[in-house]
Amino acid sequence: MLKVGILTSGGDCQALNATMRGVAKTLYNKVDDVEIYGFIDGYKGMIYGNYKLLKPKSFSGILTVGGTILGTSRTPFKDLDKPTPEGIDKVKAMKETYKKLGLDALVVLGGNGSLKTANRLSEEGLNVVGCPKTIDNDVWGTDMTFGFHSSVEIATEAIDCIHTTAASHSRVFIVEVMGHKVGWITLYAGIAGGADVILLPEIPYDIKKVCKAIENRKMAGKKFTILAVAEGAISKEDAKLKKKEYKAKVASREYPSVAYEIADQIVKETGVEARVTVPGHTQRGGQPCAYDRVLSTRLGAAAAEHIISKDFGKMVSLKGTEIVDIPLAEIAGKLKYVDPESDIVKQAKLTGISFGD
Ligand code: F6P
Repeated sequence: MLKVGILTSGGDCQALNATMRGVAKTLYNKVDDVEIYGFIDGYKGMIYGNYKLLKPKSFSGILTVGGTILGTSRTPFKDLDKPTPEGIDKVKAMKETYKKLGLDALVVLGGNGSLKTANRLSEEGLNVVGCPKTIDNDVWGTDMTFGFHSSVEIATEAIDCIHTTAASHSRVFIVEVMGHKVGWITLYAGIAGGADVILLPEIPYDIKKVCKAIENRKMAGKKFTILAVAEGAISKEDAKLKKKEYKAKVASREYPSVAYEIADQIVKETGVEARVTVPGHTQRGGQPCAYDRVLSTRLGAAAAEHIISKDFGKMVSLKGTEIVDIPLAEIAGKLKYVDPESDIVKQAKLTGISFGD
């Protein structure tokens, strides 16, 4: 009998269920006797011993369903060695649950923080396989995370919808896209939606250059300008601040978010009316797109293969068109940023998109 535990951890995304289905279908297909246990709400389920035995039918009809059938929560890595409010030692409790259930392996669907914890559990002796989840696409060691393309579709649709109203009213529109630390969704949705200005955390902006781009469009007879702005977009002067100082500045900001601050600065500088749209968590919701369904199915199948061949301590990942693997220890604690010198940024600039730099 093969016993496998599975959990989804951190912010959700569209193709979590599709990935779990890929894991389960492969295990049921390739192993005669297998039991899959789902932990409720991520690592919390392991800590508090909250799980359920899943059946083949649990994985039926979920390929196209967003969210996670197991629920999720955040268990920050930095607090892993702090006890729970009830005084439970988290790592010890997770090891005990794993042992008590007699698991042969644990599959973790998670982003950066969750995979760091997965690596810790692997170091503690558990047989762990990781799958790269997040709309942000910032997991080191994989070309793509599942969830990313689905969220790009939603953010792009938001920009598409803004286009007609922006043109009717001769306004500047800012669409604030998810991504506090990295700007992958903003970059892709900005290009796909035809944004005129794209502001990313990785490329600090100069508000004067942003306003210049707006003025240039006005002079060229364009009635509107659309900005795709990442949640974590940062000005050149703020980028010079120490991390702590910047955090304090953000905390004391009189605006709900950076997009509103930029909008205000644009109005003051150019006199053009500006509006902000925040699609927010819609970017994590709804059905996975076809690309993500395929990627998730492949990653899930590959994760199951790792369990069958007892090849643990790895994350399955996409490299080019192939599914490969990478040690969890190699990716733990690293983020995959947009390279300001990358081809995609260069080509976007070639078409006239301003990055405000
Ligand atoms: O996990 C990715 C992410 O979607 C970020 O892009 C976003 O800023 C953040 O999570 C918001 O998450 P929550 O509101 O769930 O804390």
